[in-house]
Formats: sequence, C-alpha cells, structure tokens
Amino acid sequence: MCGIFAYTGSSGKDASKILLDGLVSLEYRGYDSAGIFTPESGSVKTPGAVAELKKKVPKKFNGKSGIAHLRWATHGEPTEVNAHPHSDGSGELWIVHNGIIENFKELKDKLTKKGHTFRSSTDTEVLAHLVEEYLKTEKNFEKAALAALNDVRGTYGIALQYKGEPDKIIAARMGSPIVLGLGDGEHFIASDPSPILPHTKKVVFLEDGDVAIITPDGHTIQKLDSSSVKRETTEIDWSAEEVQKGGYQHFMLKEIMEGPEVIENTLRGRLIAQTGMAKLGGLEAVAEELSQIERIIIVACGSAHIAGLIGEYMIEEFAGIPVEVEHASEFRYRSPVLNQRTALIAISQSGETLDTLEAVREGKRRGALTLGIVNAVGSTIARETDAGVYNHAGPEVSVASTKALISELVALTLLTIFLGRQRGMSEKTAQEIALALKELPNKVQHILGSSKEIEKLATKYASMRDFIFIGRKYNYPVAFEGALKLKEISYIHAEGYGAGEMKHGPIAMIDENFPTFAIVPKDSVYEKNVSNIHEIKARKGPVIALATEGDNEIAKLADDVIYVPQTLEMLSPILNVVPLQLFAYYFAREKGLNPDRPRNLAKSVTVE
Ligand code: F6R
Repeated sequence: MCGIFAYTGSSGKDASKILLDGLVSLEYRGYDSAGIFTPESGSVKTPGAVAELKKKVPKKFNGKSGIAHLRWATHGEPTEVNAHPHSDGSGELWIVHNGIIENFKELKDKLTKKGHTFRSSTDTEVLAHLVEEYLKTEKNFEKAALAALNDVRGTYGIALQYKGEPDKIIAARMGSPIVLGLGDGEHFIASDPSPILPHTKKVVFLEDGDVAIITPDGHTIQKLDSSSVKRETTEIDWSAEEVQKGGYQHFMLKEIMEGPEVIENTLRGRLIAQTGMAKLGGLEAVAEELSQIERIIIVACGSAHIAGLIGEYMIEEFAGIPVEVEHASEFRYRSPVLNQRTALIAISQSGETLDTLEAVREGKRRGALTLGIVNAVGSTIARETDAGVYNHAGPEVSVASTKALISELVALTLLTIFLGRQRGMSEKTAQEIALALKELPNKVQHILGSSKEIEKLATKYASMRDFIFIGRKYNYPVAFEGALKLKEISYIHAEGYGAGEMKHGPIAMIDENFPTFAIVPKDSVYEKNVSNIHEIKARKGPVIALATEGDNEIAKLADDVIYVPQTLEMLSPILNVVPLQLFAYYFAREKGLNPDRPRNLAKSVTVE
C-alpha cells in the first residue's frame, strides 16, 4: 500500500506546498520513502517519510502542477533511487504508482532489448519507460499511456505526468484505489480523499479499468479500450482522519476488514496451482541450501510467535522437517545448538523488533542459514537475514497485530509448500492446499459479514473479568492469539490453553463467571474438544464455541456459537483468528477503550 497525490491548478497556487501538505494525511499508507515532482522544478526523493522530504525540498521548489508519493516498498529496498516518482529514460515522463505490476520482468526484458536502461529495481520505472516507448509511435501522451496500460498485468493506481503537457495529469486504476478531486480551477488525484478534502469536498471514485485525465479546468474518464465513461460525483463530509480509517472508527477494525485483500496480496504471483508449486522469489538464491536443511528454528515475539507455532505444525506435517519455535527474547540468551544444516526463520511485522533481530544475529554467529518472514520491506531484519519472504500486508497502524498475522500464516503456508515440494510432497497435496488458499479471501469476507453478531456477543460478555481460550492441534496456538488480543486492548485477564491441558489445573478456575472460548472446528480433534467442553459445562462455565458452519450439535452444548466456513485443517487458524480479533476489538470498544492505542504498548518494540 502506497499513497499517491497529484495536483494541477491555474490560479498560481504553489503545487509543491499543496502536495507536501497532502502527503502528511496519506502517511498511514506508507512511510519508508517519499518523493515529489513538478515540471518546473524537477524531482526530489528521499528514504523516510514526509518530514524527511520536506527537509530536502529546496525553498525555490515550486510549480503549477505535480505528482507526489509515499512508498510502502514491495519491489526494491526503500532507498532514494527506488523512491517515486520514477521517470522514463528522457526525464520527460514521470509516474507515481501504488500496486504491483506482475509482468514487469517480462516488460523490462523487452524494453532492455530496445535500448532502455533502468536506474531502479522497481516495477514502476518499467511503466514509465513503456509509455516512453509508445510515445515514439503514438506521438500523443494520452494514447501512449493507454497503450502502455493495456500491456500491463497486475494492480495499479497511478498518476502520470508529461513535461510536454505540464497542466495535464493522467490517472488510472486497476485494483488500487484512485479518487479525483474536483475543485474550482484546480483538480486532484489521490489514493484516498484525505489530502483532497482541505481543498474540495467533491470527489469522483474511479473504478477498475478507468483512465482519467485531469487539467485545471476539468476531467474526463475513459476505459482501457478508449470508450468514454461517466462516474458519479460524490460530496464527502468525512474528516481527513475518518477517510484514512476508511470510514471505520479505528484502524484496528479497518485492518481486520482488509483480511481478504491481504491474503490476495500475500499470494499474488506466488502460487502455481496447476503444478502445485510455490514461487518465492526471495528464496531462489538459497533454494539449494534449503533443500539440505535438517532442522528449522522459528524465532519471533507476540503474535508473530503465535504464527510461528502454527507454522511448526504445517512444516512438520507437510514438509517433514523438525521445527522448534522460540520466543526471540529467550533464544538469544541461552546457548542454542545450531549448525549449517539449521535454518533460523525470524517472523516480524515491523522487521525491527530488537529481540527478534538479536536472535537473527545470534543464529548467524552460530552458523545457521537465516530467513525472514517480514512485512516492512527494507527493515533491519529483512536486510540482515540471508533471504526471505515479504508478506505484502501493507502498513499496519493499529498497535494490535491483525492483518499482519494473517499474512504471516499465508506466507508460512507458501513456505510449507515450497519446502514440502523439495522433499516429496505430492503434486496432488500441494494442489489441494493451493486451491484451499485461493478460497480463503471469500471465506474471510463471509466471516467479516457476521461482525454484527460478534459485536453483540462482545457486548454480552463485556462485564467478565477473566477468559480462557482453548484449542487443540492447529488451533492450539489460536487460543493464545485470542487471549493475547483480549489482554492487550481490554486489560482483562485472559489465558490461552491447550484444551487437553484444562484438566491438569486450569479447570479449577471455572465457574459461572469464568467463560471459555472454545475453538472447536470439525477437524481431526473435534471429538476430543467436545469432551473438554462437556467438562467445562459440568462446572457451570459459560462457553462460546468457534465452530464450523453446519455443526448444529455444538449449539446444543455451548451457550453461544460463532460459525466459520470449512477449510483444510492446516488453514483453519487463518479463518479462526478473524472472529477472535473482532471479538477483542468490540470487547475493548464496549469498555470505552481505544483499541488503536492500548496503554503501555508500542507498535514496534525496539527495546530489550
Ligand atoms: C500483538 C502484537 C505484538 C507483536 C510483537 C512482534 O497484537 O502486536 O505482540 O506481534 O510485538 O512484533 P513484530 O511482528 O513487529 O516483530
């Protein structure tokens, strides 16, 4: 997820000031590098966020129009050279882009053969060169842009400017949001309305396949096949902050709701369903070494550690490699025995958690191959590991991790297929997993559709002071996640336990004021879980069951039931964490707490 903003006006306003101010409200979309271009003053780019860019932009930098960008890196490190805007070879065409161009390598090879040379490792620069190439034959900016867009596969929201027609900016949307702002003698393009709202409330939301042209005096929209189209103008009365949250009250809820999109983004271009293969570009260089490893150690903290525990079950079952999962803060202080046949995998959303980073360094010192499953591109863990897989979940603003955990689980599934196929996992098994993965976005969407019922349930239980979450096998770690989410944003006592361990101690706590959240999907341990629920009911403990759709029997036993769709047992945690995240969110809200800003916690823990 990146933020783009473009402006063209005729009243002599300073476009650079408008663009830099606007970027601030888009900062939640990305903050690892930033840049601006105006035809009059050229471009300025920098690693870091808007404050860094403002420091770098000279006083005399101005212009009547321009484009600007905040990057959340996907292709290429967050360096100055990879920051947007990107230009073609001649420096006449400039582009800002949000999304991923899937066939960029193919296009780059073709253009390289035609003599184009590239400065950055981004997919975006390829698009600028492609428009340049078409400009040679089409001799028309709009036609060249359309022709180039017709060659592109993937997702994009773009703004494109040509020095030859400085008043005109072309926008296009395919999968990544674009909104136009319609002012008086000035027009805007942005990823969301927040930077536009200080100037005008009138906006037009583009749809996929739309290409728009703005000038100071108006706008036109056409489809990729050049047919013209009209889109409704909307009057927005949201505040800029409300817009950033997509109309949700909190980032946490918005990020939970992004689940289906996040799964698609983590999977994009990485699953070859026909042959049951996972294509993980970040692991290609170490694929041979990986085929020789005899043991895996996963190090992580908090929710990322919980993802690791689920990964352990997947990798051991489907790739047959022994896996241990450790809190990074423990691993780094003991004397672990590792060797060159050990892969140490660090899982981290931020890529900056100090304990996880130090565990990676410890692993390296002891000779292990180090890998990262990281969301923040170019972060320290991503840089210091030997190889890795990026999650592509987009920036996570809310302190409590939600969508990042889902992306970590999807990335771990891809890794399981990758390692499994190196070790004799059958094509059929891999295809089954691939197919089930592809169905997940719709299934998560379906769960999100029942958020009102989960909200009611949270209200019903909001006066409780203690909770226990139980699960078995793949959903044993899910019990930890349910408890962690509730603790960290509601400040109540909650514990995650293996359902089979209840009778070894915790069941003594159960009474009518101590509810149990039982994660009880229809899987290979269903009957065992049901027995545990019976034991709790016999002690008058209230039970909320998280069960599989169609399981009517469970409703006779539990006090309340949340249903989720059926999927493969190994993938069930990806569905089951969603209602637990929603439950924790609504529970905290019901108690009048701000889920985005839990007390005593920071988003990125860079202390020991
Ligand atoms: C839980 C949460 C934390 C993080 C942990 C690791 O909701 O947000 O437990 O999961 O601090 O952070 P990363 O993944 O950035 O290393």
